[in-house]
Amino acid sequence: MKPVRLGVLLSGRGSNFLAIAESIRTGKLTGAEIAVVIANVADAGGIESAQKLGLPTIVLVSKGRKRAEHDAEVIAALKQHDVDLVILAGYMRLLSPEFVAAFPNKILNIHPALLPAFPGLDGQTQAFEYGAKIAGCTVHFVDEHLDHGTIILQRAVPVLDTDDAHTLAERILVEEHLAYSEAIGRVVSGEYTTVGRRYVRRDAAK
Ligand code: GAR
Repeated sequence: MKPVRLGVLLSGRGSNFLAIAESIRTGKLTGAEIAVVIANVADAGGIESAQKLGLPTIVLVSKGRKRAEHDAEVIAALKQHDVDLVILAGYMRLLSPEFVAAFPNKILNIHPALLPAFPGLDGQTQAFEYGAKIAGCTVHFVDEHLDHGTIILQRAVPVLDTDDAHTLAERILVEEHLAYSEAIGRVVSGEYTTVGRRYVRRDAAK
């Protein structure tokens, strides 16, 4: 079967992108290939990593641009590369409703907190400062609202008394790297369906 073509969007170092690329390379994640990596920040480290892997890369700087205009360019680039599934991997920019509508139920995001707790920026620090005892990460479908769409999977990370926000974020990141490939694998397998807000195995759907 034709592999599902992933379009990765990122703004920074791109460690989640690299973990996904490594999962594909080692055969842990099958049925998917990375079609293009797009950054909205000129010096995003993830772009250099993608170039080293020989992947197509595009930088479309968003700073100072109107959201709708910038998003239209990103959508066009994704379509040009025949992208089936959009992977937000540390893409620190809200998507316009037009963007979400262009890839219905075909955009995934990873958030470094157990949603619906601590949406928005720096979820790890929010959880730490709130005094949460269990933190973690969430992979979810993207809808028009911030960090809100259907949850595909979550991984929990205990908050230790010896933690600071940085050590907690580091341990969450380890789980993010596992969670994202696993979630993409689930979506690519097509063996899952949605029941209301719940994402469940097709054979378990009631
Ligand atoms: C990750 O921790 C990711 O969960 C977070 O940005 C980081 C990107 O790291 N995303 C968000 O906070 C989105 N709301 P990376 O560039 O090394 O993958």
